[in-house]
Amino acid sequence: MMKKIVLPLFVLFSMVIPYTLNAQKTSLVILNADLTKDTISRHIYGNFSEHLGHCIYGGIWVGENSPIPNTRGIRNDVVEALKRLNIPNLRWPGGCFADEYHWMDGIGPRAARPKMVNTHWGGVVEDNSFGTHEFLDLCEQVGTEPYICGNLGSGSVEEMSKWVEYITFDGQSPMAELRKQNGRDKPWKVSLWGVGNENWGCGGNMTAEFYADQYKRYATYCRNYGNNRLFKIAGGANTNDYNWTETLMKNVSINMMGGISLHYYTVPGTWDKKGSATNFTEKEYFSTLKSTLYMEELVTRHSAIMDQYDPQKKVALFVDEWGTWYDVEPGTNPGFLFQQNSMRDALVAAINLNIFNNHCDRVGGANIAQMVNVLQSIIFTDGDKMVLTPTYYIFEMYKVHQQAALIPLNFESPEYVFEGKSIPAVTASASRDKKGTVHVTFTQADPHNEVEITLDIRGLQTGSVKGSVLTAKELNAHNTFENPEVIKTQVFTSVKQNKNLLTVKLPPASIVTLELN
Ligand code: AHR
Repeated sequence: MMKKIVLPLFVLFSMVIPYTLNAQKTSLVILNADLTKDTISRHIYGNFSEHLGHCIYGGIWVGENSPIPNTRGIRNDVVEALKRLNIPNLRWPGGCFADEYHWMDGIGPRAARPKMVNTHWGGVVEDNSFGTHEFLDLCEQVGTEPYICGNLGSGSVEEMSKWVEYITFDGQSPMAELRKQNGRDKPWKVSLWGVGNENWGCGGNMTAEFYADQYKRYATYCRNYGNNRLFKIAGGANTNDYNWTETLMKNVSINMMGGISLHYYTVPGTWDKKGSATNFTEKEYFSTLKSTLYMEELVTRHSAIMDQYDPQKKVALFVDEWGTWYDVEPGTNPGFLFQQNSMRDALVAAINLNIFNNHCDRVGGANIAQMVNVLQSIIFTDGDKMVLTPTYYIFEMYKVHQQAALIPLNFESPEYVFEGKSIPAVTASASRDKKGTVHVTFTQADPHNEVEITLDIRGLQTGSVKGSVLTAKELNAHNTFENPEVIKTQVFTSVKQNKNLLTVKLPPASIVTLELN
């Protein structure tokens, strides 16, 4: 069957996105609902907001005097959209920005706060109007945990130590007094605390050995005040720098670290020529998904190293920056990293989340980069307008896995073959929540073929089955302010039930969530 699609000429020349159904492929998936073991940490569904482009300014913070509806300067529409996702944590203030950020510049009366240059991101003026109080207010409005990344690269041990005291100490001390003077009597609760960011690069160009020593110095003075307990996360490896992970595990006691981070971005091309977010060929689509599937190997190998030093898996792997990174949209500031978000991004998000779920014995957290208007965003804003991206809908479809028990799945995926190369067409993860409801999430990358799954459910009397699907006619389909609902979650009906055997037809290029009761 050949579907007729009408595309503008420039698209036809640059993109190969034929929705030709060639053949049906099949796979048998065995789900043992009673064989659950590890819990999928809700923190896998974390987000990231850096002082970069229009993530904070415009995307989140508009100021109290803005005509855009806001609560104490924070946009109401964005907060409402975020609340629907049950976002477990929000990382801030960077990224590279974190290792140049001096938190004391961002407290006190806004008019008196010093201005600085944001050297990493466009060289723009940062007026510090969004600082510690504003960020923690945002977290309270959204109902999410703050994940603060301290400055190890250009800051000092004293500065980081005082930040912890300012936020969390409930007693008499210079920093607690200063906080009170600035209008906050009671301390906040902050657990997730990053000790530097990318310290192999923008966070100080350090060797792994040097960073390990620095980590110990800084972490020592980040104190647990009262009943606040810090979960300290060491700045971890870039992609496949396994030596970095090994050096940290070897040199830092596992009692001193809650987690180690890992950063990996999905880039279809090279860093010099990454490729367009919406104007791409099937070759680029294929290479994007291949590049994203590499996360499986990265997580497996970093985890294996951690296992040698921490067999009881006390230290979590925090993939606290992941997502797609394309060329910026034409005409936008190259330092603002603004890119569109399409059906392809939805698949990338869903594949990564399936990988993290399946590795939840070690992956204790992850943060998509970034929440609003930067890289693989879940939300775009422009003035008073807001639109939800395909990636937003994936977080909505997958939130059911948060704090649920992982159900390992056994299956062999059919291949998606392109120009003689192949990747698995299907990825999946499954979990059982506290009420006993089982959720299965599938990704199906092959844009030409439907995949028929036979889901053999064991250890559960399956009653009702419900489903939702995210798919689109074109791989580069995306939501805009003018057309905000080109892609959104739909009810999924291509499932037939015969007692505990389900036949599920996954459409070409789609994400499907099933709920089994
Ligand atoms: O997310 C954009 C940047 O990517 C972050 O600031 C940095 O940590 C990473 O290199």
